[in-house]
Amino acid sequence: MSDEPLVLGIETSCDETGVGIVRGQTLLVDTVASSVEEHARFGGVVPEVASRAHLEAMVPTIERACREAGVRLRDLDAISVTSGPGLAGALLVGVASAKALALALGKPIYGVNHLASHVAVDIVEHGPLPEPTMAMLVSGGHSSLLLVPDVTNDVRSLGSTMDDAAGEAFDKVARVLGLPFPGGPHVDRAAREGNRIAIDFPRGLTTGRDMERHRFDFSFSGLKTAVARWVETRQRAGEAVPVADVAASFQEAVVDVLTRKALLACKEHDVDHLLIGGGVAANSRLRALAEERCAKAGVTLRVPRPGLCTDNGAMVAALGAQMVAKGRLPSDLGLPTDSSMPVTLVQA
Ligand code: KG4
Ligand code: ZN
Repeated sequence: MSDEPLVLGIETSCDETGVGIVRGQTLLVDTVASSVEEHARFGGVVPEVASRAHLEAMVPTIERACREAGVRLRDLDAISVTSGPGLAGALLVGVASAKALALALGKPIYGVNHLASHVAVDIVEHGPLPEPTMAMLVSGGHSSLLLVPDVTNDVRSLGSTMDDAAGEAFDKVARVLGLPFPGGPHVDRAAREGNRIAIDFPRGLTTGRDMERHRFDFSFSGLKTAVARWVETRQRAGEAVPVADVAASFQEAVVDVLTRKALLACKEHDVDHLLIGGGVAANSRLRALAEERCAKAGVTLRVPRPGLCTDNGAMVAALGAQMVAKGRLPSDLGLPTDSSMPVTLVQA
């Protein structure tokens, strides 16, 4: 029997009920029940619908994870759970479930940060994290650039989005183009047939004073508006909208800014490993451009497989296992949820 910590992780910060089990740095199972289809007709995640779906999915998802991993609950060394940031009601379901498990089993509980978990998950995919690592997290809810000297207790924020998250911009532009929600994968697909230099869309916060004041921050709302205006003008003139070209040019504007700022951060902070996580990390052009620019800069790129980039329980278990392995003290059983938990706070 291995003496590496066996940790079950629970993630409910948005619309995915994720339960993962990790032993040390090895992923045993990653089970996800998503309510994304229930939100599709609203064009975005409805918090109350998500909370209800978590409640219904929680016990079956935990049971399925244990069954598939061949793990008995009593063999666990700890329970790990996302305590924030995220949707308040959704987080409550996960944290209450984790507390119930911890109390009933007499196991320690670790309330951890969702964003640090997105970083830690790459340990089960590509091995130990170089310290420090630069991490760029891009999803429907966040766009952050993080300097990570130690994912268990030292995560520093270099910048984040001032308005829309990167994935949110993809979802909104998809809607303008008449593509389904969530729009990212559809824009990605449409863009493959398009010309990425067809339309010169704005690159937010990349010039002059913006680069002094918001060096590593992002802004996508101006870009989103520019795309909407461009499409409207065409439509009003009765002209057909070249969906593939708009998708490709918009996508290029997003990934150009993301990769440019991420590599500048690596250079200025003398970091030679860049990790990209979050749902938008699945974007094919982001991966390609990041690879190209990292290779040129001598930076090693780490991107977990798409299933581990989107929200999941394995990432929370992975961070929990690191906490145990590094001897970090567990959280109090009365640990709170914090919908706006700062990224610098790794543990609640
Ligand atoms: O990490 P995630 O599953 O959930 C959170 O938002 O936390 O990310 C979902 C986001 C959505 O906005 C979706 O449109 C975007 O990731 N996304 C993509 C792609 N796949 C998912 N965006 C661009 N290209 C993709 N291939
Ligand atoms: Zn996330």
